[in-house]
Amino acid sequence: LPGRFVRVSELQYNIEGRTTSVAVERGSLCAIQSRLTTALPGGVSQSVLVTDKVVGPLYAAAVVAAARGTANLPLTVFEMESGEASKSLGMAERIYRFLADHRVGRDGIILALGGGVVTDLAGFVAATWMRGIPWIACPTTLEAQIDASIGGKTAVNIPGAKNLVGAFHHPALVLIDPDCLKTLPERDYRAGLAESVKHAAVFSPDLFAWHEQNAAAILQREPAAVAELIERNVRIKAGVVQRDPYECTGERMLLNFGHTIGHAIEECCGFSLRHGECVALGMLAAARLSHALKLLDTSSVNRLARLMEMLELPRGLDQPPEWSAVQESLHRDKKSCGGRVRWVLLRGIGQPTVRDDVPIDSVREAFQSLSVSSAT
Ligand SMILES: NC(=O)c1ccc[n+]([C@@H]2O[C@H](COP(=O)([O-])OP(=O)(O)OC[C@H]3O[C@@H](n4cnc5c(N)ncnc54)[C@H](O)[C@@H]3O)[C@@H](O)[C@H]2O)c1
Ligand SMILES: [Zn+2]
Repeated sequence: LPGRFVRVSELQYNIEGRTTSVAVERGSLCAIQSRLTTALPGGVSQSVLVTDKVVGPLYAAAVVAAARGTANLPLTVFEMESGEASKSLGMAERIYRFLADHRVGRDGIILALGGGVVTDLAGFVAATWMRGIPWIACPTTLEAQIDASIGGKTAVNIPGAKNLVGAFHHPALVLIDPDCLKTLPERDYRAGLAESVKHAAVFSPDLFAWHEQNAAAILQREPAAVAELIERNVRIKAGVVQRDPYECTGERMLLNFGHTIGHAIEECCGFSLRHGECVALGMLAAARLSHALKLLDTSSVNRLARLMEMLELPRGLDQPPEWSAVQESLHRDKKSCGGRVRWVLLRGIGQPTVRDDVPIDSVREAFQSLSVSSAT
């Protein structure tokens, strides 16, 4: 139904005098013209929509048609293979050539339509093309809607190292259409929920309780529950980003809860698990580590484990990677400082704390608690 949409919420955050609008609107992908007209700087010319081979056939035609409507924006579509392997310098170069062939200049824009792979890569290209042109994110996975598209981190991978090449480049507009999650595979949807649990566990006891009360509606993707989930997460993440855009004050670092062991598992399992699944395991391990260090009580650890169960997130690994490999990966963590791993731990739900003096034996025990035979 082109042109019809339901506004859920809209907020703005400002970094260095530049405004990013984040709009959550059901049906907005087919009604993008009204947004483009107000979000774009005057005189936008030739522009490119970057998407992947799964999302493109589902939504690109509607977006292109809408853009050609009242906004009168000529959009050429660049479609790449879906999956993490596309987040490469090689693919970035293919997009640069495409931009050159289509004469996209400083007055052009890039529109990213897809999951975190597409938004990270297209955002990186926008950050670097002609030293930076504006971009718009239309995230289509839950992971991208509540995390990857908010905060201006753009990146590509190099062999063996995720997200090591990147830039901060905030989109002018993040347009989130909760309705497009209807086509998202179950496993990707659930994996995205892990980031929502993360935001709740670190920043909001209220959101945590909301998950517990609405777990069934969330899992069944009831439109009102999904819209509220996105809206609440966007508000939390945008707030953190606005207060600490470049990870200087320590607040943004708290978003790393569950990601230290999570990234190590992701890497050591050869990226066979979804990022969110690894984050779920990493949060459980971090909660148990917090308990071992006498920071967190047993009932809070159990509450986190129970919520993961309610949301059908993994709580154990059948074939855990070798501890030695995990340990090596932990020490390569981007967020380590002077050779010490900085852990985001919990003192309670909504009470994070950062430690760099965690004994490695406690980390090993927390990791080993994830092997299925010892999982509760
Ligand atoms: N920049 C950041 O701050 C940040 C934060 C979190 C994650 N990330 C990055 O995001 C990436 C992961 O993103 P992801 O989990 O969205 O994975 P993804 O982009 O690979 O998407 C997952 C799968 O879903 C498909 N898909 C996307 N939208 C769909 C839809 N609406 N219907 C049907 N299928 C759809 C995709 O084609 C893909 O096959 C990683 O590279 C990660 O590093 C970045
Ligand atoms: Zn994450």
